[in-house]
Amino acid sequence: MEIKPNNSEKVFADNILLVTKTDLKGNIIYANRNFLNIVGMSEKRLIGAPHNIIRHPDMPKIIFKYLWNSLEKPEEIHAYVKNICNDGSFYWVLANVTPSFENSNQGKKDKVIGYHSSRRAPSKAALEIIIPLYEKLLEAEKSGGIDASEKIMSTLLKEKGVLYDEFILSI
Ligand SMILES: Cc1cc2nc3c(=O)[nH]c(=O)nc-3n(C[C@H](O)[C@H](O)[C@H](O)COP(=O)(O)O)c2cc1C
Repeated sequence: MEIKPNNSEKVFADNILLVTKTDLKGNIIYANRNFLNIVGMSEKRLIGAPHNIIRHPDMPKIIFKYLWNSLEKPEEIHAYVKNICNDGSFYWVLANVTPSFENSNQGKKDKVIGYHSSRRAPSKAALEIIIPLYEKLLEAEKSGGIDASEKIMSTLLKEKGVLYDEFILSI
């Protein structure tokens, strides 16, 4: 059943890490205690569920396209993500999502066996940039689909002369 979003925000301390691991399809195979607490779902409900179980309708599709494009390379990526909780409230994170390699030397030729994400509380300054940007991307997607939001992002990155991940880490 889909969760109905409301405007209540959950914030968490700077030293807290929210961690999940997934299989190659993005199904959750591990969630740490902090993640379970903030989402307000049981391990039983989350384990085996696709990660979009906590997808918030305010998230533009293009961000997840960047995410999966990087993971398939396989490379890590950073992203600001608004997630939904079981009670309809939301929380913002700065996520670092990386491929999990079969061997620990993280060589690109190693087999990817899944993915994992570590999330921290984002800075207020970054959210002041991200919130209006995501609103613009979402609006563009409503009329012009992901092509429209991709165009906005590529124009922005070109203007700044940076790659997506460089932009995210610079704000
Ligand atoms: C390790 C990992 C962590 C993810 N974390 C989130 C997350 O916190 N929130 C989210 O909405 N999607 C997350 N995703 C992306 C989802 O798999 C999915 O692509 C996204 O929710 C968009 O859903 P959709 O493809 O059904 O539109 C994560 C994916 C991976 C591989």
